[in-house]
Amino acid sequence: MTKSFQSIKGTKDLLPPETTRWRTVESVTHDFMGRWGYKEIRTPVFEQTELFARSVGEESDIVSKQMYTFSDQSKNSLTLKPELTAPVMRAYIQHDLARTGALTKLYYIDSLFRQERPQAGRLRQFHQYGVEAIGSPYPEQDAEVIALAYKLLQKLGVDNLTLYLSSIGSKECRDRYCQLLVDYLAPYHDKLSQTSQKRLKTNPLRILDTKDPEEQDILQKAPHLLDHLENDDRIHYESVKRHLTDLNIPFIQAHSLVRGLDYYSRTTFEITHPRLGAQNALCGGGRYDRLIEELGGKPTPAVGFAAGIERILMAMEKIEVIAEDTPTGVYIVAACDAARPIIVELAVDLRDAGITADFDTIRRSLKSQMREANRLNCAYAVFIGEDELRKNCVQVKNLTTTGKQVEVKTNNLVNYLQNPD
Ligand code: HAM
Repeated sequence: MTKSFQSIKGTKDLLPPETTRWRTVESVTHDFMGRWGYKEIRTPVFEQTELFARSVGEESDIVSKQMYTFSDQSKNSLTLKPELTAPVMRAYIQHDLARTGALTKLYYIDSLFRQERPQAGRLRQFHQYGVEAIGSPYPEQDAEVIALAYKLLQKLGVDNLTLYLSSIGSKECRDRYCQLLVDYLAPYHDKLSQTSQKRLKTNPLRILDTKDPEEQDILQKAPHLLDHLENDDRIHYESVKRHLTDLNIPFIQAHSLVRGLDYYSRTTFEITHPRLGAQNALCGGGRYDRLIEELGGKPTPAVGFAAGIERILMAMEKIEVIAEDTPTGVYIVAACDAARPIIVELAVDLRDAGITADFDTIRRSLKSQMREANRLNCAYAVFIGEDELRKNCVQVKNLTTTGKQVEVKTNNLVNYLQNPD
């Protein structure tokens, strides 16, 4: 037997009618972003591996174990993009987008690749929409980005959102805090997992993300980063909170919202949905004021977020938001073989006139064609038999309301369907 193929583990075919729901999310997103002043950017599917190592961080889970990295024939190390902030910043610097204005607001809808253990809401190829607002260091920009993330989810019909907000301060205050954390954890060293013991040296903040109950217990009394913010960071954070309160966007202050990517400074946030289970983050983001400089650009502050579309659709599914598939308007039926070439032309003419039309190309019987018209929920069936061919006319049957059948001149069909009786 010939071997058949399966899609790769952690990837998903999107089939109709599911694709209609995707298109709904995409078109609402494009429309929404436009109204909020964001312009679309699209970047290539792969980049130099070093771009991600330098931005997301060598020690992050993404770079250390999840990237799809390969060498091309010229021995360049390339990586399928696991996230979009770094590629968008690369493009911003490469094309000197700063010259187009002091504030650059970009958005994207794209496919990403991470070699994670597949489970519900966690795929190896997944999709995000997101924004990057580049050029403003001020809290009103953070508030705008968070409000956009929140309100777009609401617009898509996802309710019951919980917004977690935090600040991880500047690099200097984070370094000082990390030392405090390392000192606090020193007496518990032997009780920590191997991963956390390693992180004590490489990236102590990530220990706060632990899922291990014993470690969570140890961390109960650990110092909080929020209590160690410098004055400017604190003022910035307080101001973001005030803006959100003024915007009536509820949030919960999180003491340890350490995101899995290393480029953040100051504001970090995540929005979760209760019904998603273990992978409950619908979106995450924050400020990253040093990244552009670290990637070779001029020092430029920026803030953004990305939301996982598969997870959004799961949340939408659970609350039963259903996007209707485009109904097929007219089914053209060949009631004799001589009519078959004619219905091809007629279908194209109707579509040219903006009418949704379909017809049979597998030479089925009249009865089967009628069954198909009903299966597709067509509003009208248009029949052409020998009589109609002779008289240059068609029979139009209303399938949904009246069931009435009328004879219409072929050259008047478009007009009739646009203004039926
Ligand atoms: P992230 O938290 O890694 O952030 O991803 C954002 C969202 O993408 C997550 O909240 C989740 O909904 C979705 N997501 C992540 N991994 C997977 C996966 N394996 N399967 C399905 N969905 C997933 C970023 O990517 C940052 N670039 C966000 C950002 C933009 N920060 C500033 N600007």
